[in-house]
Amino acid sequence: MERLDRMIPYLDRLNPRLVERIERILRLIPSVRREMEREFHELLADIEDSIKPYHEEYPTYAQLPSEGLEREHILSQIEALNEAESKRWREGLVSGAVYHGDQDHINFLNQVYALTSQTNPLHPDVWPSINKYEAEIVSMTADMLGAGQVDDQSPPTEKISGTVTSGGTESILLAMKTYRDWAWDRKGIINPQIIIPTTAHAAFEKAADYFKIRLVRIPVDKDFKADIKATKKAINRDTIAIVGSAPSFPHGIIDPIPELSELTRQKGIGFHTDACLGGFLLPWAEKLGYEVPAFDFRLPGVTSISADTHKYGYAAKGTSVILYRGLELRRYQYYTATEWPGGLYFSPTFAGSRPGALSAACWAAMLNTGEDGYLDATRKILESADWIRQEIEKIPELYVLGDPLWVIAFNSDALDIYQVMDRMTHKGWSLNGLHKPSCLHLCVTLRHTQPGVAERFIGDLRSSIDDVKKKPAEEGGMAPIYGMAATLPMRGMVSDMLKRYIDALYKV
Ligand SMILES: Cc1ncc(COP(=O)(O)O)c(C=O)c1O
Repeated sequence: MERLDRMIPYLDRLNPRLVERIERILRLIPSVRREMEREFHELLADIEDSIKPYHEEYPTYAQLPSEGLEREHILSQIEALNEAESKRWREGLVSGAVYHGDQDHINFLNQVYALTSQTNPLHPDVWPSINKYEAEIVSMTADMLGAGQVDDQSPPTEKISGTVTSGGTESILLAMKTYRDWAWDRKGIINPQIIIPTTAHAAFEKAADYFKIRLVRIPVDKDFKADIKATKKAINRDTIAIVGSAPSFPHGIIDPIPELSELTRQKGIGFHTDACLGGFLLPWAEKLGYEVPAFDFRLPGVTSISADTHKYGYAAKGTSVILYRGLELRRYQYYTATEWPGGLYFSPTFAGSRPGALSAACWAAMLNTGEDGYLDATRKILESADWIRQEIEKIPELYVLGDPLWVIAFNSDALDIYQVMDRMTHKGWSLNGLHKPSCLHLCVTLRHTQPGVAERFIGDLRSSIDDVKKKPAEEGGMAPIYGMAATLPMRGMVSDMLKRYIDALYKV
């Protein structure tokens, strides 16, 4: 790594494509590969204990037990592990992740899950109830996101359609696959490209990678909003869709969707609003009188929206909704196999068999929460977030990025923000460490609206900053890894490091 450290300042000045090539050549040299392996090994050894905290205390099952274990014995292990892990998120020390989390809400969803755990919407003849739940989830979500203006008399091109998926990433992957297949079929585009702001979720990059779509990233402006001019310039004959976030995961900023979607409408290109994070919060924020820029189907250029029921929809983990303008686009998402000896096969999403119980629990969460529940939850979240943001702004060492509503990203010009993150981790917090630019964020949920949680966050943040001022660099922790990952010009190495991390997660 020493050799690499010496090279970094030089590599940093080069064009990223050239660095990529140099990296590929360097990787062919056995001594460089050996040095990289050693470096990965050392880095992972440092963090392995935090990945595998139960190694010592609990038995490891690398093979099936020769005789089945007693249910009580299994349950007691799960209960103990659950107990060890739930305190932190219950107390509101985690950014995002658990969006509701009240025990009576969880009990209700679990009751629904228990009743429907054997269901599978792949068999609509056996469980038509699940199709009913899913159709109604789609309809309620569409209605909330501006489809209300479309009625039975509207042409099929204006009707809002959609499906239930397993999460935000699947909704996004499906939408991008849908645009690819639509553009190939209807426009003969064989080298499709999508245009996304750099702040759009990584799921778009994953979609581009999986479906061989060219990805054009456009920069964001000083307010962290997609640059309209750069987007306009990037559009060409192969562009199949443009993306905007409402809001973005990193900084909680809503892109200029009215302008971006108007660009695509004029050119007959798809526009996807990624409202995975905001789909179940922004409509209620608007009703509460917050200034919410237009982002949904009320804009004629918006042709698809992803909105996650398993975030601010307060469903259990494992559901999201993908919506399309018109009935035709959705059919490009479906899969049908007509020649398979297994029979006529069709499925709306990537999976074959799916857990109908998650859809039932999602439907139940939406009905139980209702408009009044979503309004109340949104009011609490936005009020807590506003207070937290104001308190962060009072800390002289910190500044907030952009003008967010409830995902508050902050950085410091005076301190290493990742050192602050490490000190917050010591105090029990789990914050998101982001990069390009370096910052941390807190995604405020109902967990943070419990009495005293916001005050505890600010108190711990202030004392973490004092700790870093006294001792700017502490041994161990994630700060050096984040620091290196954020600045290393050789991105292939960072990617390799992440793959080793996933390997480590699967180690028994
Ligand atoms: C804006 C945005 N889009 C997409 C996703 C991906 O959602 P999931 O993690 O459910 O796949 C997230 C997740 O946080 C998000 O914030």
